Amino acid sequence: MRKGEKGILIVMAVIVGAAMIKRMVGNESVNKERDREIPFYTTVSRAEGEKALGLIRDNHCKDCHSLWGGAASMMQSVPAPRLDGIGSIRSEEWLYNYLSARDPQAVVPSRMKPEFRMPSYSNLPDSERHEIAKYLASLKVKNWYLMETRKAEYEKLTGKEYKP
Ligand code: HEC
Repeated sequence: MRKGEKGILIVMAVIVGAAMIKRMVGNESVNKERDREIPFYTTVSRAEGEKALGLIRDNHCKDCHSLWGGAASMMQSVPAPRLDGIGSIRSEEWLYNYLSARDPQAVVPSRMKPEFRMPSYSNLPDSERHEIAKYLASLKVKNWYLMETRKAEYEKLTGKEYKP
């Protein structure tokens, strides 16, 4: 083996070694832990949310929306916004008014075909609209996820780097 070749081999060994160490250390890093964590949570307990979840079931919200990872129907491909984390974006009052609107599309314009649009729930009893709105408002998304989603969205739409 010539001297030059030996040198190249040593350099390669160092690079490979460094990459291995980086991977090992990287596995322990905080970021990796964070990525595994579910970014959505609710500020109420399961038991407290039970009644609202029952109403959400009875009114077939999950036919169009995903919530807690459970989008399970033939309409699954309807690109309705996911309800996880909605309480970080909308207030309880806004949600109540939206559910009460006779024409939800006057509040949030739709780009969907009529049969896939958000239906009006103005006929639901007032107490039930309050119950659902209160529960939806309790659904939060962790800040880092919201930031990363915003960044990704911005960069996808503009092709520019996102600088808050
Ligand atoms: C037929 C499908 C469908 C059903 C059923 C449905 N939605 Fe929607 N929803 C949508 C679509 C689509 C949108 C986006 C606005 C639009 O296109 O009308 C939307 C929007 C929303 C929004 C506003 C999101 C935002 O911040 O802009 C909330 C909140 C919401 N729905 C909650 C519910 C709840 C709660 C139920 C059950 C009581 C429900 N939806 C039932 C399709 C549906």
